[in-house]
Amino acid sequence: MALLEGRNLRKTYRLSRRNTVEALKGVEVSIEKGEMVAIMGPSGSGKSTLMHILGLLHTPDPNHGPAPELFLGGENMAALSDNERTKIRARRMGFVFQDFNLVPTLTAIENVMLACEYAGVRGKQAKQAAEEALGLVGLADRADHKPSELSGGEQQRVAVARALVNKPELILADEPTGNLDSDRSAEVLALLRQFNREYGQTIVLVTHDSEVGDSCDRVIRMRDGRIRDQGTRVGTPAMAAAVAVPA
Ligand SMILES: Nc1ncnc2c1ncn2[C@@H]1O[C@H](COP(=O)(O)OP(=O)(O)O)[C@@H](O)[C@H]1O
Ligand SMILES: [Mg+2]
Repeated sequence: MALLEGRNLRKTYRLSRRNTVEALKGVEVSIEKGEMVAIMGPSGSGKSTLMHILGLLHTPDPNHGPAPELFLGGENMAALSDNERTKIRARRMGFVFQDFNLVPTLTAIENVMLACEYAGVRGKQAKQAAEEALGLVGLADRADHKPSELSGGEQQRVAVARALVNKPELILADEPTGNLDSDRSAEVLALLRQFNREYGQTIVLVTHDSEVGDSCDRVIRMRDGRIRDQGTRVGTPAMAAAVAVPA
């Protein structure tokens, strides 16, 4: 079953009155539950724009040709208010970015707990969940360190802990290993793969690294605002049954 289904996804950025960039020119994409999918393509081909739309951070253009559709677990996201989209993002999705995006003034555990708070989990329960998530990424002993006191690889593992602390169905990662050396990249990737296998989390990640792409179940290739190859899945998607979906 598809976890994510998008059709007619278009996005045009207006740079000035006359100058626009068509970042997405009508994309159709379907991601199965439990899949770990890589999105690859040249810089500027629309990968991040697509990730932002799939992650409900941006909305597709409503008025260029056929109406855009975006379904998450069969539910139409286009019909939701901003408020509802924010809630879904906080509870059902986790994000990992190339530049980690940690709050510099907060410790590792506070950064992770912030994601709990957004999802409506607070206090002792949040602390416990954050400790557990930091344990899963091997950083239990760094909980009280600020980002500046951690290496790049460690910071990205904190970001991974933050992405998965609410046990989301979907993890979206935009070049998560783009700022890491090859050993650190392999660690972060192994973690994502582990969560995919153990908890059936669906993972969509953007990468420039063909080795990373090869380690995924499928590679979607983009060029010039379009998907030019949906890729062929190797193996079967991980079982999604183990994921706790918050009501
Ligand atoms: N906020 C923005 N404003 C204007 N143009 C943008 C914006 N974000 C992306 N673009 C443009 O849209 C195109 C696709 O960008 P992006 O989705 O970031 O590609 P990728 O992630 O594949 O490098 C590029 O030409 C980029 O310059
Ligand atoms: Mg990008």
